[in-house]
Amino acid sequence: MENKPVLKLARVQDMDLANKTVLVRVDYNVPLKEGVIKDDSRIRGTMKTVKYLLEKNCKVVLIAHLGRPKGKVDPKYTLEPLIGRVSELMGAKTHFGKDCAGPEAEKAVAGAKNGEIVLLENLRYHPEEEKNDEAFASQLAKLGEVFVQEAFGALHRAHASTSAITKFLPGCIGFLVQKELEFLDKAMQNPARPFLAIIGGSKVSDKIQVLYSLLEKTDSLIIGGAMAYTFLAAQSTNIGNSLFEEDKIEEAKKIILKAHEKNVELLLPADHRVVDAIENTSSVETTSSMAIPDGKIGIDIGPRTEAAFAEKIKTAKTIFWNGPVGIFETPEYSHGSVSIAEAVAQATAKGSISIIGGGDTVSALKTAKVDKSAVSHCSTGGGASLEFIEGKQLPGLIALSK
Ligand code: 3PG
Repeated sequence: MENKPVLKLARVQDMDLANKTVLVRVDYNVPLKEGVIKDDSRIRGTMKTVKYLLEKNCKVVLIAHLGRPKGKVDPKYTLEPLIGRVSELMGAKTHFGKDCAGPEAEKAVAGAKNGEIVLLENLRYHPEEEKNDEAFASQLAKLGEVFVQEAFGALHRAHASTSAITKFLPGCIGFLVQKELEFLDKAMQNPARPFLAIIGGSKVSDKIQVLYSLLEKTDSLIIGGAMAYTFLAAQSTNIGNSLFEEDKIEEAKKIILKAHEKNVELLLPADHRVVDAIENTSSVETTSSMAIPDGKIGIDIGPRTEAAFAEKIKTAKTIFWNGPVGIFETPEYSHGSVSIAEAVAQATAKGSISIIGGGDTVSALKTAKVDKSAVSHCSTGGGASLEFIEGKQLPGLIALSK
């Protein structure tokens, strides 16, 4: 794989920002349940940049998306419930604008003073946002004098607020984007070795490119989750009634071959926890080998695999983990993901660099009661971090570099 050309990006600390109105694109696509924020890490991630701007007496205008309202106003996806948390974390008065563009937005921005924040309503209430519409981007651009890109999790989208907007305002990247790029770039360009990647989740199809890309860089690759059943089927191992992708068996064979050619150690589960039916949590059994008996469904890695994976994690100096290795949301099926989270935390405590990406993987850490501070870097972008690792240039960065 060829290395990507290095993009020239201005950083927030390079800009002359004192007393200016600064438009900051953030990724506040946070999990909400009945208006209560379930995980505020994406808001916390932007604190350094927002506070830096407030200290420079800027008026900070935050633009963001929440969910996928498909270009229509839908109260289910309003950003209004975030106001309290934003104000509390940033330590500044925070106004809410009922629209992100046009007269309502302009009124909200005009009504705030320097040293205060305005959070504007969901960008995706406007269909023009996802169409990367220039006229819409120019309306957004009217709301500030400088643009700061701080939405790492949305950088893989070429939308009006991540791409077209850069045509209308001088732009730069914030501290969160800098930190994300630094960790991911170092892991991919100059990792401390041995470099181990742990890839889980249910579908091979979602992760084909990332697997090929990792085979170019890693020393060992662990494959877990339902993805592993497709790899086992590719080796003619019995997988019972486990979830797998028949049309990806050939691809899995190619990946196994590539690992061999590249001398990358490929680790698949050597035993499994299985059930009769997914909902029958009391039927969990452990298989005696990597084969899954007829009629059984694999739902997690087994204890021997846990020990083998933990041993591998212990010796790795760089660890990239994306995707749980079982149906971790069900406590009875979470043992494997919990044991990986614990092993990654222990390796980090002993000096290894660990990078965790993807909402599910971060939730698996939570299930394991492993604090985010116990890993080196918890990426705020699932899709964005995977595309970066795949070697793609992220549209939000390309736009800013022009
Ligand atoms: C995410 O949650 O990964 C980002 O906010 C991007 O959201 P999207 O997949 O709806 O574009």
